[in-house]
Amino acid sequence: MYRVTFPKKILIGVLLSSLAPGAGVLLSQPRDPDVIVVGAGIAGLAAALETAQHGASVLVIDLWSVFGGHAIVSGGGVLLTGTPNQDRMGVVDTEEILTKDFFEWGKSPDPDWVRYYVKSNRKEIHDWLLRLGVSFNDPFYDPIRLPGNSRPRFHQAKGGGFGLVSPIYRAALAHPNVEFLFNTEGVELLISEGRIQGVRVRNARNGELSELKASAVILATGGFQSNLDLVKSNWPAGETVPREILAGSGPNSLGSGLVMAKAAGGSLHRMDHMWNYSSGMKDPRDLTGKRGLRTFNTRGIWVNQSGQRFLNEDSAEGERLKILLKQPGTTYWNVFDEPGRSDLSVFGWNWMSEEEKSRALVKADTLEELALRIGLPAQALQQTVARYNQMVDSGADEDFDRFRNHRVPQGATPPVVIAKPPFYAFQGFPLARKSMGGIRTDQYSRVVDSNNNVIPGLYAAGEVAGFGGINGVAALEGTFLGPSLLMGRVAGAKAVEDLRGSVESLHREPRLLSANPTPPAPEALESAVDSENCVSCHTVAEDLKSTARGYEHFRLVHRLVFLRNYNCVQCHSEVSSHGGPPHRIDRLRQVQNCELCHKTG
Ligand SMILES: Cc1cc2nc3c(=O)[nH]c(=O)nc-3n(C[C@H](O)[C@H](O)[C@H](O)COP(=O)(O)OP(=O)(O)OC[C@H]3O[C@@H](n4cnc5c(N)ncnc54)[C@H](O)[C@@H]3O)c2cc1C
Ligand code: HEC
Ligand code: HEC
Ligand code: HEC
Repeated sequence: MYRVTFPKKILIGVLLSSLAPGAGVLLSQPRDPDVIVVGAGIAGLAAALETAQHGASVLVIDLWSVFGGHAIVSGGGVLLTGTPNQDRMGVVDTEEILTKDFFEWGKSPDPDWVRYYVKSNRKEIHDWLLRLGVSFNDPFYDPIRLPGNSRPRFHQAKGGGFGLVSPIYRAALAHPNVEFLFNTEGVELLISEGRIQGVRVRNARNGELSELKASAVILATGGFQSNLDLVKSNWPAGETVPREILAGSGPNSLGSGLVMAKAAGGSLHRMDHMWNYSSGMKDPRDLTGKRGLRTFNTRGIWVNQSGQRFLNEDSAEGERLKILLKQPGTTYWNVFDEPGRSDLSVFGWNWMSEEEKSRALVKADTLEELALRIGLPAQALQQTVARYNQMVDSGADEDFDRFRNHRVPQGATPPVVIAKPPFYAFQGFPLARKSMGGIRTDQYSRVVDSNNNVIPGLYAAGEVAGFGGINGVAALEGTFLGPSLLMGRVAGAKAVEDLRGSVESLHREPRLLSANPTPPAPEALESAVDSENCVSCHTVAEDLKSTARGYEHFRLVHRLVFLRNYNCVQCHSEVSSHGGPPHRIDRLRQVQNCELCHKTG
């Protein structure tokens, strides 16, 4: 059950009684927002907050029923320099060193965005976030997992991606100039007289189309890595296109923003710059077989279709993918034993039942049987494992040098023999993850056409814009969230500047917001209202069957509600005191419930 209501804060009442004799009517007329932001991920939220803080009204629409986009499920790691954390660690990092790393690692990054990021990340990202209540752990350093960085810079927000992005949302929610409209898909830009006039939208639950008017639009719809046709057709020239690649980005990362921008005259750039992984496993919950999950497995070995190892399993992601693409079929099997099973970590495991997890793995009592079941030559697999075990014992991997530089993710154990049955395997595939190209913008996040002319009223920020091209062909990591936020802020400020014609400094100090605009914790669940009462009106079980896109997250959450036997008021305490309508969801309070499932770090 869902109803789209027009944002109430931008409804203005016009009392006509004194002007029109005898009328005495109260006309309520919706006032169009100045700016529409399409996408409530970190780029869109930063853009919205910045727009609002510059005094313009902004409406944020999103296809999901919830805010945050990828940032919610991300590690929340941001590349930052010159921070108090770096100082405490005695790290010497300068603008020159960081610039050099960006260029050496990324080969062809956009020089303007690199320059601006290098110069301003401490003030415009770190300090800005600290004011909103975000705090950071000391930078994590691992030259194997974060190659390209000559200094520790990967600062993870406390509370992970949720801890990073939710304070921005809270501040936006508390700002009188910002409105949100969820379950609303941007379909097409409205253009007349050579400039953007708004967005045509579709209600993601009932499919109804309507038009939302605004003087400027900021596209922040994320990347295209879940659109596998686009991924494959833009595969870097000269590299083998994987026979099968899994979608490892969000379900809405289909490139819809690119389509909208192109239809409005915008151009695309760097479409073949992507950050993909080699450690994908098919998501056992996905019936299409197209979605993948990222895995870490320090005890497993990777074998190709001939049952042979073909790489140092612990080398950097970029390296591994290159090697994997040279293997027949561009796929492999990850093989391990019983102790290795508990070491296997999969992004998304914690959402799954044991039954779903075991569906992802092939299990057998002997290596021979395992080989038979996964279709590998049994003798070759046995020999590979025997040789690997010998090398573990001798301490030297003579084939791929896995142990000498062995570095393992925190908490995992170093290589050990694969000997204790039962044995397991899962098939590994390339995993599409991040788009480092997309809509072409200038350094003010304005969308430009193929001749570099600005499209009046149109801006793009974050992954939809390939992060401005700041990564070039390879990312230093932490260089997605940081640039999304920065580009979003720049887009918001520039949109207002263009509308107002003012020359207010683009990157002035953001206005101070109260550090914690959250209302007090929900009161005790003393209400007599229980779940049964709620479901007498709310057909939750029915809604779970809906396949409409606007129910995607509702399904994810409420499926777990039934599985884990939560009480409705545990997350909807604002409703408990009523028991019946009228009651509305309290979005600010909802933020506390997200942590139940999304808190990491
Ligand atoms: C598991 C994981 C871990 C990661 N860890 C890190 C990390 O530690 N550090 C780092 O820097 N980066 C990391 N990243 C990458 C980073 O999270 C993303 O690149 C970044 O969050 C992108 O932000 P965005 O706002 O541009 O887009 P998104 O977060 O993709 O947001 C786009 C929003 O737009 C909405 N949308 C899409 N199409 C439409 C439409 N047509 N109409 C309306 N709404 C629409 C979507 O629903 C979504 O909410 C990680 C990514 C993943 C998947
Ligand atoms: C007597 C029927 C009835 C009962 C009982 C009831 N609701 Fe509702 N609820 C409604 C109606 C009607 C709406 C308004 C729907 C709308 O405006 O789209 C609503 C709205 C909501 C919304 C907000 C939807 C939104 O988009 O803002 C939530 C959340 C909600 N109810 C949860 C609950 C919970 C939890 C309970 C039990 C504590 C409950 N309701 C009990 C009828 C009921
Ligand atoms: C674990 C927390 C949690 C529990 C428990 C929970 N919900 Fe929700 N609910 C949410 C969140 C988060 C949303 C926000 C939007 C979404 O995910 O679609 C939501 C949204 C809703 C909505 C609004 C959906 C809409 O139309 O957008 C209704 C109605 C609702 N819940 C009813 C219920 C009922 C009834 C129960 C008990 C059977 C329940 N919820 C239990 C977290 C919860
Ligand atoms: C009861 C558990 C639960 C609660 C509560 C919950 N979520 Fe989720 N959410 C999920 C699951 C499960 C997924 C899918 C993750 C996956 O497939 O790995 C998800 C995915 C998401 C995604 C998609 C990320 C992407 O790009 O793939 C967003 C955004 C999100 N949640 C936001 C929220 C917000 C905001 C709240 C609080 C208002 C919230 N969630 C509350 C369970 C929950």
